[in-house]
Amino acid sequence: MMAETESDQTFTVQPVSEGDVEAIMDLLKRTFYVDEPMNESIELYSETNSCPELDEYCKSSLLEGLSYKAVNNKGNVIGVIINGVSPLKEENNGNDLESQAKKCPNPKFQRILHVLALRETGAKLWEKFPEEKHLVEVKVAATDPDWRRRGIMNALLQETEKATKQRGITLIRIDTSSAYSAKSAERMGFTCVYEALYSDIKLDDKPLVLPKPPHLRDKVYIKRLSV
Ligand SMILES: CC(C)(COP(=O)(O)OP(=O)(O)OC[C@H]1O[C@@H](n2cnc3c(N)ncnc32)[C@H](O)[C@@H]1OP(=O)(O)O)[C@@H](O)C(=O)NCCC(=O)NCCS
Repeated sequence: MMAETESDQTFTVQPVSEGDVEAIMDLLKRTFYVDEPMNESIELYSETNSCPELDEYCKSSLLEGLSYKAVNNKGNVIGVIINGVSPLKEENNGNDLESQAKKCPNPKFQRILHVLALRETGAKLWEKFPEEKHLVEVKVAATDPDWRRRGIMNALLQETEKATKQRGITLIRIDTSSAYSAKSAERMGFTCVYEALYSDIKLDDKPLVLPKPPHLRDKVYIKRLSV
């Protein structure tokens, strides 16, 4: 009995491939879409309220060759980390986060985009790391609720670090809206370079999102790798 429980808890980390997209999107729709702290606070998604903008955000980097899944011994996807290469400074091509927010037809997702835009201008990464042009950015991380607190996110972040080194890129970025992904970043040796209380991130004098405790702070973490 004991052995069975132990083996049930084992998982492996593997690169994401094309055949995984459906299982990963299913996992995200019952995790990240509903319980990432910002999404949860504005009830971004429900079965009757889809969010094509978030579908696009998740899918856009999934097959860049830098994303990983955690799989249990039955072959089910129980965790995912979606990573992509991003510039340190947003390009001036009208597709910056602030412009995206202004154009966004979905008023809930629009709020999230405003938070991301304010984070971008608050973090000023291009001033902090002027010698770098690109980094690998963790865009989404999610673990199946039945598999949380067993080190899956830590393992996925560690694999991300290896893949980043292999690409010859020296910076990794993770923005954490969850106090638990922040813990994971700290465990893996990342440094916090920006933080703000959600209650202070406002538009027209009102907080854009108010995640519940312990998820009170919007943070950006960076790790510099030696390649
Ligand atoms: C955030 C999330 C991906 C973490 O996944 P996980 O596989 O449970 O994470 P891990 O088991 O690797 O734990 C990472 C760290 O967070 C801590 N942690 C995780 N869940 C915790 C909880 N409920 N309470 C306190 N600490 C917690 C762990 O102890 C660990 O820290 P440590 O290594 O110092 O002990 C998961 O909670 C999740 O899917 N949340 C919903 C989606 C989301 O918020 N995504 C992140 C957005 S930035």
